[in-house]
Amino acid sequence: MDPKWTDGNELEYLRQVLENSSEVRKNPFTDRLEKAFIEKYKVKYAIAMNSGASGIHSALVACGVKPGDEVITSPYSVLWDAGAVLIMGAKVVFADVKYGTHNIDPAKVIEKISEKTKAIIPVSYHGLPCDIDELKEIGKKYSIPIIEDNAQTHLGEYKGRYVGTDADFAMFSLERTKHISCHEGGVLLTNDETLATKARKFGGGGFKNLTSDKSKLAAIIPSEFQSPDYKRHDSLGLNYRISEFCAAVALAQFEMVEKKVKLRRDISKMYNEMFKHFENFEPQEVPKDYIHSYFTYSVKSPFDKLEDWKSFYNFHVKRGGDDFYAMMSTVYEEDVMTKHKDYAEWKGSCPVTEKIQSKAILFKTNYRSINDAEKNINKLKESLEKYNFGHN
Ligand SMILES: Cc1ncc(COP(=O)(O)O)c(C=O)c1O
Repeated sequence: MDPKWTDGNELEYLRQVLENSSEVRKNPFTDRLEKAFIEKYKVKYAIAMNSGASGIHSALVACGVKPGDEVITSPYSVLWDAGAVLIMGAKVVFADVKYGTHNIDPAKVIEKISEKTKAIIPVSYHGLPCDIDELKEIGKKYSIPIIEDNAQTHLGEYKGRYVGTDADFAMFSLERTKHISCHEGGVLLTNDETLATKARKFGGGGFKNLTSDKSKLAAIIPSEFQSPDYKRHDSLGLNYRISEFCAAVALAQFEMVEKKVKLRRDISKMYNEMFKHFENFEPQEVPKDYIHSYFTYSVKSPFDKLEDWKSFYNFHVKRGGDDFYAMMSTVYEEDVMTKHKDYAEWKGSCPVTEKIQSKAILFKTNYRSINDAEKNINKLKESLEKYNFGHN
């Protein structure tokens, strides 16, 4: 069995879910997962959901984003954040990233603020915390909520504290590839009771008996509610609840979060050492007092042309090297975005992102052991030594 999924209490907790159907109705693992996040990150509220994207959508709804409002986010990311904003009928405004860190540039965020701005979603990409204090300062000055996308940044640290502890909302993803995972899932953190209640109610079907800190749903409806005139909903919502099966696996994984993040950090130290010998490759810069959680190890390659990027990829993989990843398209260059009415406004608006995106190589940090990683990184080193950079 793959240790990614089975080296902790995953199987035992799943067995407990399957064996105890009367307990399962009370969502014990969802409650335990939320409590574990609250204790680890020292926040007041955690809301477990069926994905990180569901968390972002619920956070935007809780912050009161309405059609026509504007939300600022990073174009150097996945489409989910901008996608949720557009689905809500709001407008996405992209702020460019910093060349060194690949994360949203607070100075560019300020330039994009208007009276219609209703939320800012910074993304801590590849596992590197964004510039939280500066962004929070902006949020405070203009009364705009900050929703941190920490999907990739489990246990990332910023100036001595964990990411996710002090924004209006912070989302962590439990998707298949993340440090800890239940294949699909997410957790939303906040310290604000009103926001927590709104997000939980939206993601929990709008049931009126949901509160900021209660995952149990109307599955256990007390008998006094069994009346034809009982009204269940006082708001609208969707079903973004996490299942007990996923919560059970996620809890087991979260019990090992330190170990899992440490392995990726240790693997990244090996990349750090190796890339000291290849100065034409620029690893993502980690500012002082920021602690990266290395979802991936991101490097700006010297390849300016697509065919050169692909040529090195093919050279390495043909030699038996492990494959590596390209950065996703700049968000506003995705097909769906180029057809959008605002594309003319977005196009070319974030030149730093566009420059980094085409050159970036994302190396794997999710090897199952240090030995496995060492073997693959040595192979990569050989490919870098043997590849004829002069002829690309
Ligand atoms: C940066 C980022 N944001 C958002 C998401 C969406 O999270 P999920 O897949 O859990 O919905 C992901 C990943 O999957 C991600 O990497």
